Order: sequence, then structure tokens, then C-alpha cells
Amino acid sequence: MKTQVLLPTDEAVAYAAQVLREGGLVGMPTETVYGLAANALDEEAVRGIFAAKGRPADNPLIVHVNSIEEAEKLCIISDASRVLMQHFCPGPLTVIMPRRSCVPDVVTAGLDTVAIRIPSHPVARSLIAQSGLPIAAPSANTSGKPSPTTAQHVYHDLDGKLPVILDGGECDVGLESTVITMAGDMPTVLRPGGITPEMLLTVLPEVRVADSVLRPLKQGEKALSPGMMYKHYAPGGMLTMVKGEQSNVQRCCLRLYDEAKADGKSVRILAFEEHLDAYKSAEVLSIGRLSEPETVSHKLFAILRQMDDEGVDVLYSEILPAEGLGLAIMNRLSRAAGFRTIDADVTDPFLDVSGLTDGEITLSLDRTAPGMPEKNWLPAYHFAICDMHGVRMGKCDLRIGHNDMVYFGGNIGYELLEEYRGHHYAAKACRLLFQLAKKHGMDYVIITCAPDNLPSRKTLEGLGGKFLEITDLPADSDMRERGMTEVCIFQFDLF
Ligand code: TXA
Ligand code: MG
Repeated sequence: MKTQVLLPTDEAVAYAAQVLREGGLVGMPTETVYGLAANALDEEAVRGIFAAKGRPADNPLIVHVNSIEEAEKLCIISDASRVLMQHFCPGPLTVIMPRRSCVPDVVTAGLDTVAIRIPSHPVARSLIAQSGLPIAAPSANTSGKPSPTTAQHVYHDLDGKLPVILDGGECDVGLESTVITMAGDMPTVLRPGGITPEMLLTVLPEVRVADSVLRPLKQGEKALSPGMMYKHYAPGGMLTMVKGEQSNVQRCCLRLYDEAKADGKSVRILAFEEHLDAYKSAEVLSIGRLSEPETVSHKLFAILRQMDDEGVDVLYSEILPAEGLGLAIMNRLSRAAGFRTIDADVTDPFLDVSGLTDGEITLSLDRTAPGMPEKNWLPAYHFAICDMHGVRMGKCDLRIGHNDMVYFGGNIGYELLEEYRGHHYAAKACRLLFQLAKKHGMDYVIITCAPDNLPSRKTLEGLGGKFLEITDLPADSDMRERGMTEVCIFQFDLF
């Protein structure tokens, strides 16, 4: 079948309406995403939708109509549902209600409810009006891919599977409609979208958000909305979300970018418009303005598709708070990332450490080592201990935070070159590191040494360390590889 992409002239819409009446499929623009439309009352036509998308038959479709009166023919509308629809329809809201028997099973996947949406897009509206039909339409993507927000996306996925796509330009919202079920005891958002829970609460006394919205379904858990069971929106490359304080996120993204690059991968960072400057050294793409989330929802899917077109292997993305429209954006982004997230505050929390000096020695940063939660490694600074002329006299390091490994190994390590010993430079370096640890919000640091290293023990006591214990190293401690079996542990409270 040859697929035509037509501008939505009167003629083209009339032709598309004709295709629908004859049981065919049409690519239809809406204010959310493009839909793959068919006559909702024609079982055979609806089966065509499932076949074209490769959609599992147990995932029900949304039926699109132009008015509450038309909806009433398909479902039973409660008072609360009516108020809801009067308020937000036409618009990016889908309401699940008890269905009437005229709706074929194939549309609802055998459920006793039906999802109804009244779109606001003028082309969708005139297609419904001219066909005189309720229109079943899922998003017009191949199942599993990001929903299409341009006619070209639809063509890319479904070329040859339908006669006509009406090209209404870029979809305004860019994410699929909010799906709310009014069929249970409590109105529940099954899929967040352009109509946010905050907005719904202006007309409904109570609204729940299904807790699967921001987390993967647990094993054996039943999805309230069958569509949430499936892997979704996934780009071909591996997408990871990076969360945390903004400077840490930037450092983390750039580091991961460099690592993946060094691995020969094609990599992109997805960042908010406001932050692009921070990523100048990398290949970065704007995902819209953090201060205007509607610019993010508008282009998110288009960007994920573009990444596929460019054959990108690895993607790191900034995130935004899951509030307002941010909830819908995070719902889609989380699924596209398979919920993979890195906490930059845990892996890359480094501060500006220029000017760490007491007038006699200076700590000059050699490198930072990111934390690796999977290995229990805390993030660390590695410094050279220098005199005021920059002559290197030794080295020291600080591991940020506490865990079992650091209890035995210490937060701080130091080593002076032979010829610089005996001047308390190690103690001075420790004092500077204490200041830095405090800036990281640490209340205390641990320093350990071999129990028979008496000079070290004297240094630590002189520094005001509280002796905690001499104890055996755990059997799996890598310090045993250096011949140690016991450690002497000191704690330094930071005031
Ligand atoms: O914005 C949109 O809603 C777009 C445009 C084309 O209108 N359509 C769309 O349809 O996103 P689709 O099929 O991709 O997503 C419909 C979602 C699925 O997650 C499906 O499982 C759920 O709605 N759904 C449909 N009927 C349902 C029902 N009776 N009960 C629970 N969930 C239902
Ligand atoms: Mg879909």
C-alpha cells in the first residue's frame, strides 16, 4: 500500500473520512501526539490498528469523539465524570468510564470500561465530524517506540501500512493525554499528561496518582492501565537519567560522556536550555526550558527519535521535579531510560578546592575519583601536598562520606616523601582536609593506621583523634592484600 502524507485541506480531510468509513486506517494529528485512527465500531478496522502497530491485543484503545453527547452513546457518564469533561474537554484528557455494549470487545480488550477522549485539534475534530464516527486511535507509533509528534514520525513507523497521514505539523503538547479512570472508587490518574493532577484537583475533591507512574511494575503486579505493562518510549541507545545538585549533575554527565567517548561510543547529553553552556565541551542537545516544562514535553519524543536516527549509543539526561507537567515528563523519561538513574550527589559531589592552604603548605588537586556505589567506593579527592613554592612533598586523599569500607580504611590517607618528614606536614594536611570534609557536611572523619605504626598513632593523637579501637580487618578487606590484618581506628569530630 502506498502511504500519502497530505496537508489537511478540506479535500484531504474528506478523503481521510471516506477511508475511515470504508474500514481503513488514517494517521491523524491531535494536540497530544499523532493517532492511528479507525472506525471504533468496526471490529475488522480496529484489528487493523493492532496489526499495523504490532500492538498486543490486551492493550485497549482510546475512542475519540467530539462531544459529551457523542460520548454518552458509548459509556455511562457519572456526575463527577461530566464535570471533569465539561472542564477539560476538548483537550488532552482521556476519561475511563463504564462502557455500553455497542463498543466492540476488540476496542476495550474485553474490559467493562472504555477510554474516551474529546480532542481539541481542529483536524482531528473535523475528521470525526466528517466521518460521523467515533474513532479508535492509539498513538501512531510502532509499539514500544516513542509516540509520534510529527507526520514524518508516523510515516517512518507505518509507511505502507495505511493509505493516508494528515500532516497537521508538530503536536502542541507532545506527550499523550492524561488518562484518568472514573470507573473505580477513587478517580485515579493511570497515565500523567498535559492535564496535571494539580489541575484535576481544581474540579475533583480527590485524585490519586497510580503509584506505578514513577516506578517499574513489580513482578506479578497487575497494571491498572494495560499500556503501562509494556516497555515504552525506548530509544535504541542506552539512556540514563542523572539526578542531583546541578553542578554535580553537570560534572557527572561530562565525566560519563568522556568515559563513553573514550570507549568509542556515540554519546549525547540531553540538558535543559538554561544549562547548555556548562556542556560546551560535549555533544549536547537542548530538551527545552526547565522553567517552561511545556517546551520539554513538546519535543521530548522528537529528540528520542532523532537520537535513533543519528545512531546514538549512549545518552545521559538531566531531569526535572515530578510536579505539574513534570510528572508526565518524568513518567515518559523514566520508562525510556528503563528507570536507570545515577545520583550525581553520590558519585560526583566535588567542590571547588582551589586555595586549600594554611600559609605553610598547599593542597593541590591531582584528580578526583567518582564514587562507585556498586563497588561501595565513596567519591574521593587526591591532592599533592606542596610547599608554598609548589614543590611536591607528598600526597593525601579524602573520601567523602561513611561506609564499612571507609571505617576500616579511613576517610583520609597521606604519605610524605622521606626528606619532608618530621615537620608535621601530614597533620597540617589533615587539618586542611578536615575543613573540606566539613564543607561536605561531614560531622566526623575516620583515620586509621597499622597498630604497630607508632609515629602515625602519635600524629593522630596529636591531631586530637579519639581512639576507637584496634580491630581485625574484615576477611574480604583489600587492605589484607598489603599484608595488614589489624587496624587502629581514630575518629575526629569536626566542629
Ligand atoms: O493522547 C493520546 O491519548 C493519544 C492520542 C492519539 O489521542 N492516544 C494514545 O493512545 O496515547 P494509546 O493507545 O497509545 O494509549 C492509551 C492508553 C494505554 O496505556 C491503554 O492501556 C490505556 O490508555 N487504556 C485504554 N483503555 C483503557 C481502559 N478501559 N482501562 C484502562 N486503561 C485503558
Ligand atoms: Mg501509545
